[in-house]
Amino acid sequence: MTPLADLTGSLNLGQGFPDWSPPSFLLDAVDAPPPGTPAAEPLLHQYSRSKGDPLLVRTIAEQYSPRLFPSAPHAIDPLANVLVTVGASHALSLGIGALCGPGDEAVLIEPAFDCYTGAVLVAGATPVYVPLRPRPGVATRTSADFKLDVHELAAAMTPRTRLLVLNSPHNPTGKVFSRGELQAIARVLDDWPHVAVLSDEVYEHMTFNPELPHVSFASLSEDAFARTISMYVSRVGGRLSGRKGG
Ligand SMILES: Cc1ncc(COP(=O)(O)O)c(C=O)c1O
Repeated sequence: MTPLADLTGSLNLGQGFPDWSPPSFLLDAVDAPPPGTPAAEPLLHQYSRSKGDPLLVRTIAEQYSPRLFPSAPHAIDPLANVLVTVGASHALSLGIGALCGPGDEAVLIEPAFDCYTGAVLVAGATPVYVPLRPRPGVATRTSADFKLDVHELAAAMTPRTRLLVLNSPHNPTGKVFSRGELQAIARVLDDWPHVAVLSDEVYEHMTFNPELPHVSFASLSEDAFARTISMYVSRVGGRLSGRKGG
């Protein structure tokens, strides 16, 4: 409401803006404010920005822009592309709820983190499962031996598909999808321009094979970036969206 009021030059009577300072014992008890901002400034003590504190979203954008786009290190707009949530489960349910509804289908890769199905069902949409299949004839299997058959993925897509949920590094197998595997998924999506991707990358730092580094789906191309909401997590959780995702 407040950004809309700012945009239209209106007065927002729905939200209080205290113009007096909190008691000094409270100010003394909290951490020092950012340099150059006097703690006694009453206009500092307001509701915070609900999409994420400006300092925090700016820091997240600075961290992730070069990681996602080494050639365009400022590609992520902190105010338009970053949303801070209360943990990744919150980001998941917001993302899935925003993108799918009754009559829609969401493609999930099985086995999957258990929150995905619940969030899809709560949104009123239908989960459609595509399995990761263990490679046959391998004596000692590693997580890399679980493969997604892109033909099975292509067969699961229908005009009702709104969302594909990706998760790499993967819970529960630990599989790290290679760049080639992600590119093959992207090629399937070329036929489905209206399908969004929710890319759960909360284990981005948990890779153990230097030859198989974490690759963000959104970093593959302009198209992948535009259709993807990438989810990362710190203790409180953060989410970055593609340009379309908002
Ligand atoms: C793949 C995956 N995504 C998301 C989450 C949820 O993270 P959070 O605890 O921040 O809600 C988990 C937690 O186990 C997870 O394994």
